[in-house]
Amino acid sequence: MYDIIVDKRNGKELTREQIAWAVAGYTGGSIPDYQAAAWLMAIYFQGMTERETAWLTDAMAASGDHIDLAAIPGIKVDKHSTGGVGDKTTLIAGPIVAACGVPVAKMSGRGLGHTGGTVDKLASIPGYRTELPKEEFCRVVKEVGIAVIGQSGNIAPADKKLYALRDVTGTVENISLIAASIMSKKIAAGADAIVLDVKTGRGAFMQTLEGSLRLAEAMVAIGEKVGRETIALVTDMDEPLGAAVGNALEVMEAAATLMGRGPGDLRRLCLELAANMLLLAGKGDGDIDGCRKMARQALTDGRAFGKLKQMVAAQGGDPSYLDEPNRFPAAPFILPVKAPATGYVTAIDALAIGNASAALGAGRLRKEDDIDHRAGLILKKKIGQWVEKGEALAELYTAAADKGEEGGRLVAQAIEIGEAKPRPPKLIHGRVTAAGRVLGSRQL
Ligand code: URA
Repeated sequence: MYDIIVDKRNGKELTREQIAWAVAGYTGGSIPDYQAAAWLMAIYFQGMTERETAWLTDAMAASGDHIDLAAIPGIKVDKHSTGGVGDKTTLIAGPIVAACGVPVAKMSGRGLGHTGGTVDKLASIPGYRTELPKEEFCRVVKEVGIAVIGQSGNIAPADKKLYALRDVTGTVENISLIAASIMSKKIAAGADAIVLDVKTGRGAFMQTLEGSLRLAEAMVAIGEKVGRETIALVTDMDEPLGAAVGNALEVMEAAATLMGRGPGDLRRLCLELAANMLLLAGKGDGDIDGCRKMARQALTDGRAFGKLKQMVAAQGGDPSYLDEPNRFPAAPFILPVKAPATGYVTAIDALAIGNASAALGAGRLRKEDDIDHRAGLILKKKIGQWVEKGEALAELYTAAADKGEEGGRLVAQAIEIGEAKPRPPKLIHGRVTAAGRVLGSRQL
């Protein structure tokens, strides 16, 4: 391990064998934390080549179980978001894709810090089982076309251990390490092809567009090297996606979107993610416009909403909550945040809104924290909209008045009002495929 650390410290490209040996040794316990930490710091400063990053990914994916989805016929396309605020796209894009005949077998994460997790959102539906035995998971995918569960089993334990070490040694923010961490889990979870939603902006891991594009390119390159076709969209996370932030509130907004009544930004992003998933599954004769048309059709004719309800029922949940959202238990306090001035909303800091939602009870600060599924907030205004002094900027949902006070303070700080009408925020900044990057949404 000493030689591997020194080689990397001196800027040498490591061999596949060195990387596999280090990852296996650290996961197995024969390499101590202090040597792994030194290695990570050397990687942080010296970087990794594309080949090294792919080998690291492979070694981490090989460290635990590989989910075999061969029993499910067809190309299984997974979708992954690097984490955002108000991101309920899996609940909409997944059913759209399934309604077009492409199986969706998805393992999703739980929320931590300012970002939410799909599994927590689904768990707010009474009865919904986020853990299914593998045979049942495959049966639901085969019968319904889609199943979404929490990450189970022993998926990429090397990543779990290395991530915990990165978290406390200042080595999280390295593109090769982030890319290998995300892709190793997707590969071990059995995806044939992957659509990535790489967030950019204030509420994202990578706050600059160039950083987000480079992360997207690193992950697409890994996919290419390990034989899983990957497309990445780089999408906005300066302001939250849609209006709802918080678990049951986001499920209600996802259902409304599938019924044709959702926010425009959420609908557009879900259709674009779904179209790219369909493309990778071989639909539309390789034509993205054809896939967009298929996705729009499945959304507007109600088939996608039907799929979501079927999936919820198959996983033990009560689908009537999706038709009648007022059945969800109400939060004891519903409090407005009022505009302090008249003008245009010029900024909504997604990170601060995510923190506000967590403070209201919707998120976890530590992995073991409980969450309140009823808690969260609804934005009444988005960037570019006009607001009168005293009008509601947001509505807070919480179980305790003191949490409401703290959440209200954070939301008020997060929203800026000005006199000049701002340019409408861009939703999709770029698309990265093996052929390269294309910027802007004009070409999408
Ligand atoms: N998400 C992951 O899964 N891993 C990282 O390293 C960063 C974000």
